[in-house]
Amino acid sequence: MQTGVMTKYYYINTIGCQMNVYDSARLADMLNGMNYTAVDAYRKADLVIVNTCTIRDKARQKAVSFLGRLAAQKRKNPGLVIAVGGCVAQDEGRSLVDKFPHVDIVFGTHAVTRLPELLEKVRMERVPIVDTAMTETIDTAGGIWRNRRSGNISEFVTIMRGCDNFCTYCVVPHVRGRETSRSPEHIVDEVRDLTASGVKEVVLLGQNVNSYGNKEGLCTFPELLAMVNEIDGLERIRFTTSHPKDLSDELIGAFKTLDRLCDHFHLPVQSGSSRILKRMNRKYTRQQYLERVAKLRETVPDIALTTDIIVGFPGETEADFEETVSLLDAVAFDGIFGFMYSDRSLAPAAKFSDKIPEREKNRRLNRLLDLQKDISEKKNSVLIGRTVTVLVEGLSKRSAAGSRTERSEKEQWTGRTTANKVVNFIFPEGGCPPGKDIKPGDLVRVVIEGGFAHSLSGRALLNKNEAKDTGGNFNAA
Ligand code: 5AD
Ligand code: SF4
Repeated sequence: MQTGVMTKYYYINTIGCQMNVYDSARLADMLNGMNYTAVDAYRKADLVIVNTCTIRDKARQKAVSFLGRLAAQKRKNPGLVIAVGGCVAQDEGRSLVDKFPHVDIVFGTHAVTRLPELLEKVRMERVPIVDTAMTETIDTAGGIWRNRRSGNISEFVTIMRGCDNFCTYCVVPHVRGRETSRSPEHIVDEVRDLTASGVKEVVLLGQNVNSYGNKEGLCTFPELLAMVNEIDGLERIRFTTSHPKDLSDELIGAFKTLDRLCDHFHLPVQSGSSRILKRMNRKYTRQQYLERVAKLRETVPDIALTTDIIVGFPGETEADFEETVSLLDAVAFDGIFGFMYSDRSLAPAAKFSDKIPEREKNRRLNRLLDLQKDISEKKNSVLIGRTVTVLVEGLSKRSAAGSRTERSEKEQWTGRTTANKVVNFIFPEGGCPPGKDIKPGDLVRVVIEGGFAHSLSGRALLNKNEAKDTGGNFNAA
């Protein structure tokens, strides 16, 4: 046992996308190796890290309001160290310290692995430290995460950073820098370490995974997927995000050849109007998008498709919006993420004319979400009667909240299909029978009995040979 070294407590508030979740996990791992222990409330912490997002103004506001609350906490505990990381930190740099004098460290999107040095510097110098330096490649900037372990079933693995596409609404290229890919060896090693510690599913992350390795002359993305597919103990591989303009036939073909690659594709369309797509600098038309969707479904008929949509982009007319509505009808996505356009000062669209009023954006978003709810419900109810394989995540929220005795009667479990659909399921006679205990990470066959907008419900099959898998998704149209 060490003497004279006091344990310190840290709390991380993660706002925003999966990349931030990955970076926060990395920060936590570094801190755990430095005599820090995680706590579940910022009031108990000696170090609070806010990992911020600025993709839309709402996300930035979340960070700002949390920083406001931390001012009161710092008055109570003057020894508290406050560090702000992520995209707001990268964008606003030193001006954050001017606005929030209680902040001790501002570290940008390329400075995650430099946090230990920054903490030491602040301890020695006792003045606010700002590090928003950007580096060209990811591997020299801490691209290697050795001995990564996790107690979770599924983990994110960042395979590339930054973006070179410059969609006119988007702040990402400005705050995450130029696109750069990690070497396949480092990625494979990281996934191998994760599976050795019990992880069953990885989600490979990049702004545009289709251009993985291009710049550095590494392998292609489908080649990387093939390497990951070989890793023992790994059950499922997912990835996000793909840019439709770069979606290759080679990647579509990988769904046929790689048994661990899940039948789900997230393909952000952003708008159904070619005119708006041009103003967004997306470099594809509505027709070209539909052609890619057709090719995906021709190759993998059961593939689940999800997308991102922005409503109320500057200059979006009622007719443009109707084209997005008709695209939702034509594609019949399994799910959509809909957003109201939000000005980002670094992105060119902030200066575009013909801004759409907030009320109108709200109306358009609600119309899309209502329509999609019907489509999702329809698609999910067609799955009733099918048998699917579910990767168990744990007891459903409802069951986990009850005591053991309360649970036993109608114990409900939750997990996901390969098509990424949430399935809540029970066992035929109430609880899981003795000797057949299931645990997170198990694969269970489930007969679907209910289909709703955001989930499915079903009944587990106890005998593994009871039924053949009849697919996790239904493809309308
Ligand atoms: N306003 C609204 N939505 C945006 N997105 C990106 N930038 C903006 C913006 N300025 C959405 C896009 C992207 C998703 C991650 O966030 O749909 O795919
Ligand atoms: Fe933003 Fe477009 Fe890059 Fe996606 S592809 S991160 S939307 S600039």
